[in-house]
Amino acid sequence: MCGIIGYTGKREAAEVLLSGLSRLEYRGYDSAGIAVFENGAMRVVKKQGKLSVLSGELKQSPLKGNTGIGHTRWATHGVPNDVNAHPHFDQKKKTVVVHNGIIENYLEIKEKLLKEKCHFASETDSEVIAHLVARAYKGDLLEAVKRALKVLKGSYAVAVMHQDEPGRIIGARFDSPLIVGLGKDENFLASDIPATLEYTKEVVYLENGDIADIRGRSCGIYDIKGKKVNRKSATIKWDISQAEKGGYKHFMLKEIFEQPVVIKDILKERTHGPEIDFNELKIKKSDLKKIRRIAIVACGTAYHAGLTGKYIIEKFAKVPVWVDTSSEFRYRDPLVDRETLVIVISQSGETADTLAALREARSRGALVMAVCNVLGSSIAREADGVIYTHAGPEIAVASTKAYTAQLSILYLFAFYLAAIRKTQTVTQRKKLLAELGRIPLSMVRILDNCHSRKNPIAKYAAEFHEYYLARNNKSCFLYLARNINYPNALEGALKLKEISYVSAEGYPAGEMKHGPIALIDENPWVVCIAVQGNTYGKMLSNVQEIRARGGIVIAIVTEGDHTLERGDIRYVIEVPKAPEIFSPLLVVIPLQLLAYYVAADFGYDIDQPRNLAKSVTVE
Ligand code: M6R
Repeated sequence: MCGIIGYTGKREAAEVLLSGLSRLEYRGYDSAGIAVFENGAMRVVKKQGKLSVLSGELKQSPLKGNTGIGHTRWATHGVPNDVNAHPHFDQKKKTVVVHNGIIENYLEIKEKLLKEKCHFASETDSEVIAHLVARAYKGDLLEAVKRALKVLKGSYAVAVMHQDEPGRIIGARFDSPLIVGLGKDENFLASDIPATLEYTKEVVYLENGDIADIRGRSCGIYDIKGKKVNRKSATIKWDISQAEKGGYKHFMLKEIFEQPVVIKDILKERTHGPEIDFNELKIKKSDLKKIRRIAIVACGTAYHAGLTGKYIIEKFAKVPVWVDTSSEFRYRDPLVDRETLVIVISQSGETADTLAALREARSRGALVMAVCNVLGSSIAREADGVIYTHAGPEIAVASTKAYTAQLSILYLFAFYLAAIRKTQTVTQRKKLLAELGRIPLSMVRILDNCHSRKNPIAKYAAEFHEYYLARNNKSCFLYLARNINYPNALEGALKLKEISYVSAEGYPAGEMKHGPIALIDENPWVVCIAVQGNTYGKMLSNVQEIRARGGIVIAIVTEGDHTLERGDIRYVIEVPKAPEIFSPLLVVIPLQLLAYYVAADFGYDIDQPRNLAKSVTVE
C-alpha cells in the first residue's frame, strides 16, 4: 500500500518523480524518497513525513538527471523514519529498489543473507530485494531481477536500477499494481494512472508475474516464464484535471460535489429506455439465470454498498443475498458453489482481502462478478466479469463518490437480474428508472445549500466541535437507521471516525434496546435517519427514546416533514422526497458532509487521515 514511480527519458527525473508521487500520495504518506542517476552515480534522498518534507529537502540539495525511481510509503515493516523510507540500496550501493507490497519470507531470506555477512540498513522487508538483485547481478539487470524474484514469496510491485546501467529501470509486479506509461523517447512505471497522466495517456497494465524493462526509447515486457510478450496498451480517456482539486479545498469535498454528475452519467451510459446495458460484462445472461444465491464480498465503504445491495437485489430480483467482509469470507470456508454468484465490490480493484476472497470463490466454482472503479485493476481482471462504475479517480482516502456509484450500479444490476429472472415487468422497470433518474437533481438540491460554511450541516458540525472541546473530548457519535438506510448508518459512522478521529458507531435502530441505549446520556450525539418510509414511525419512537435519556439528536428527514422540529429536535437536516428504496443515495450526502465539516473544524488532514491509505493492498 505504497506508491511507486519510475522515469527514464530526457526530462529532469526528480521533477517527474515528485509530480508523480504527489498523485500517488493517497496510497501512503508517512515517508517518501527518490533515487536519480546523477552524472553516472546513483543518489538517493529520502525523508520521513509527507511529500512536502522531501520536496523541501530537494530544494536545498537538488538531484539532477534523467532516470530515477520514487516511492511514497505506508509503513508495514519498520517504523516511519528516514532510514526505513524507500529507495533502498544494497550494501555496495550499486542496486537501488522501491517496493510496494509485503515480502512474506523476508525474515528467512534476511537470516540467510546475514549469515553471508550481508549488512542491512533498515528494518524493512523490502531491503532484501536490493541485496538479492545485487547478488544475482552479472552484468544484466533484467536477468538479475528475474533471478531475485524467484526467491520471493508475498506481493510486490518493484522498480529497480543498477549503477552499471544508467537509463534502464526494471519493474515487476505480483499481486500489487504496476503500469507502464509509454511516451515519446521516455517511459514510466507507476502504481496508478494519475502519476503519469500529465505526460502520457498510453498505458500498459502489467499482469501478475510480468517484468518490464524500460529505457528512454524502448520497453520490453516479459511474462512470468520470462518469455517476451506483447501486452496491448490502453488509452486513458480521462483528464489530469479530474485528478486535481479544481478549486475545492479538499479532494473529499470535490468528490462529494461530483456525485450528481457521476450518477447521472452512470444512468445515461447504462440505460437505453427500459433496457440496462452492461456491455463489458462477460457473464452470460443464461448463466445469471441459473444462479440460486448471491454473496456480496467487500471491505469498508464498499462493504456498506454491498449491504444496501442485499436489500435492493432481494427486493427486485428475488434471489437470496448474503454479505460478507472480505477478510471474514476468505478464511471462513464459505458455502459457495456453481449456483452462487459472488459479487466483489472494490473502488480500487486492488484490496488484498477482496482479491483473495475472489480467488477463494472462483476456486470453489462460483461465478464471480466485480464492481470496480479502476480500469484494468487486479480484481477487474481476475473476475469472470466486471461492471465498471466509471466514477473517475477518487483521490481522498475517505470514499464518497465511489460509494454512490457502487449503489447506482447495484440498483441497475438488480433490475438487470430481475429482467432475466422475470421478476419485474417492463412497466415496473420504466417507472423505477424514471424515479432513479430524478436522484441526481435531488442530490444537486442538497449540495446547493452547502456551498458556504453557513449551511446547516456545517453549523451543526461547528456546534458539535465546541461541545466536544467543552466536555474534554468526552462526546461521541451514534448513527441509527432502519431497513435500507441501516448500511448508511454504518457508512456515516465510518466516514466520521476515519477523518475526524471521533468515536462513532452505526446501529440498526431496532437494536438500541438490546444494549447500545445504555450509552445514552447527555454526551453522545445521535444521528437518526428518519426519512419517510415503512419504518418511519419506528424511527420517530427511537428519537423519543433518545431524547428521554438526554441524548442530542441530529435528525435526517424528508423535506417538508416538520414533525421532529415541532418536538424539541434542534438539529434537523432535510433531504428531498424520494421513494424509500432510492433514499440511501440522498441520505448519505449529509452524512458525508457532516463528517467532512467536523474534521475541518478540528483542522485535520482530511484527504490523508492518519494511519490510513487509499487502497489496502496488504492483509
Ligand atoms: O478500494 P476498495 O473499495 O476495495 O477499498 C475498500 C476500503 O478500504 C475503503 O472503502 C475504505 O474503507 C475507505 N477508506 C472508506 O472511506
